Amino acid sequence: MSTPLRLGIAGLGTVGVGVVRIVRTHAEMLTARCGRPVEITAVSARDRSKDRGIGLSGYTWCDDPVALAVREDVDVFVELMGGSDGAAKQATEAALAAGKDVVTANKAMLALHGQALAEKAEARGRVIRFEAAVAGGIPVVKALTEGLAANRVTRVMGVMNGTCNYILTRMEKAGLTYEEAFAEADGLGYVEADPTLDIGGIDAGHKLALLSAVAFGARPDFDGIRLEGIDKVSIEDIHQAADMGFRIKLLGVSQRTARGLEQRMQPCLVPASSPLGQLEGGTNMVVIEGDAVEQIVLRGPGAGEGPTASAVMGDVCDLARGYRVPTFGQPADQLETVPAAKSSLPAPFYLRMTLKDKPGALAQIATILGASGISIDRMRQYGDSEPEAPVLIVTHKTTRDALDEALGSMAGTDVLVSTPVALRIEEV
Ligand code: NAP
Ligand code: HSE
Repeated sequence: MSTPLRLGIAGLGTVGVGVVRIVRTHAEMLTARCGRPVEITAVSARDRSKDRGIGLSGYTWCDDPVALAVREDVDVFVELMGGSDGAAKQATEAALAAGKDVVTANKAMLALHGQALAEKAEARGRVIRFEAAVAGGIPVVKALTEGLAANRVTRVMGVMNGTCNYILTRMEKAGLTYEEAFAEADGLGYVEADPTLDIGGIDAGHKLALLSAVAFGARPDFDGIRLEGIDKVSIEDIHQAADMGFRIKLLGVSQRTARGLEQRMQPCLVPASSPLGQLEGGTNMVVIEGDAVEQIVLRGPGAGEGPTASAVMGDVCDLARGYRVPTFGQPADQLETVPAAKSSLPAPFYLRMTLKDKPGALAQIATILGASGISIDRMRQYGDSEPEAPVLIVTHKTTRDALDEALGSMAGTDVLVSTPVALRIEEV
C-alpha cells in the first residue's frame, strides 16, 4: 500500500466536521482517485467534551492547534478554526515553518495576511490552498488558476456571501423579517462566528480580495475595496426594487482599469431576470470574463457543511497527488502591487427618498440632480402618505462622485423627510 497523506485538522465546527465525514465515508474512493489513502491523524478544537455528532476516538486530540500543526505524523495542516489572527495565524505559520502544506477555508486570514503567508510557504517549497475560502463549494480558485490560466482576466464579479443572499431572498420571497431570515441562515451553518463580518460585507470583501489576487496576479488588497454591507437595505427597498424589475444583491466586482484596480463589494440592483438576479438562498455565483474565454458563469452552494468540506477536500486531493499550484497561482514575490482605483466606472443609480409633499419639492430635487450633471431615466411617486411624498428615481449613468455631490446638495434643502437611499444598478 502506498504512503498515506496524513491530515491534522484544527477546528471541528461546521466545516471541520464535514471534512472528517468525507474522509471517512469516501475513504476508498479517495484512495482510488489520489493513488494513496488520505487519513486523519490528529484533531484540535477548544472543547474536547463537546458532542460533534461524530466519533473522534481514532484520532490524537491536541488542545493546542500549534502543537498539532507541527506534529511529525501530520503532512498537511488543515486550518478550519477561523479568525484573521490568533490561533489560526499562529498555527498556520508554525505549520509552514515546520515544512507542511496548509489547506484552509479562512478568507479573513488570507485577505489580510495572505501575501506574507504565501511568501513563507514558498520559502519552504510549500503551498497554501484555499478553495473553500471563496464561494464555498464552487471551485472558482481552481477555475482561475488552472482552467483559465491562459486568459488575461478583465473582470470578475459575483455574489459571494451565502448569509446575505439568504437573508435578502427570504425577506423578499417568504416575507420573513430580517431576524427570522438571519436565524434560518444561522441554523444552516452559513453565518460566521462574528456575524457582523457577513452583514457588513467584510466576509464577501475578504473573498473578493482573494479572487482579485488570483484573477489579476496582484497582491491581495482588502483595504483597496469600496465596502458596504446589507445593514442599510430595508424591506421597502427590496420591494421597490422588485417593482421596478430589479433584485438587490450584495455584489462584488473587481476589474483592472486604466485608473488602477477597481474593487467594490456593495448592495447593488441587478435585473431580476438576469442569472445574478435569480440567485436564491445560500447560492453563490461568480462571473469571470477573460480575453480568450469571453465569459463563464459558475454557480453553486456558497456555504454550509457539505459544500465547504467538498472544497477543502478538493485541495487535499491535489496535495495527495503531489500537485502544488503556487498559493495565488504564481509565485508570491512576483505578484504585482496594483494601486486601487480612486473612483468607479459610471453606472445608473436607484434613489429612494421621502419628500415633504409641498409645491416645488420634486422640482428642487430634479434641479439639484441636473446641476450635478445627472439625468433622470425614470421616476415614480408612490404611496398615499400625505404630507409626505415617497419618490423613486432611476438615473442614467453617472459617477458616484457626481451622485455624492447631488446628495450633499439635497441635504442642504428643507424638502427631505429622511436621508435618501442610493444604490448602484450594475450592468450584468
Ligand atoms: P465554527 O463552526 O465556528 O467552528 C470553528 C471551530 O474552530 C470550532 O470547532 C472551534 O472549537 C474551533 N476553534 C476556534 N478557536 C480555536 C482555538 N483557539 N483553538 C482550537 N480550536 C479552535 O466555524 P466554521 O463555520 O466551521 O468555519 C471555519 C472556517 O471556515 C472559518 O474560517 C470560516 O470563515 C470558514 N468558512 C466557513 C463556511 C461555512 O459555511 N461555515 C464556508 C466557507 C468558509 P469548539 O468547537 O470547541 O468551540
Ligand atoms: N459566512 C459565509 C457566507 C460562509 O455566508 O457566505 C461561507 O464563506
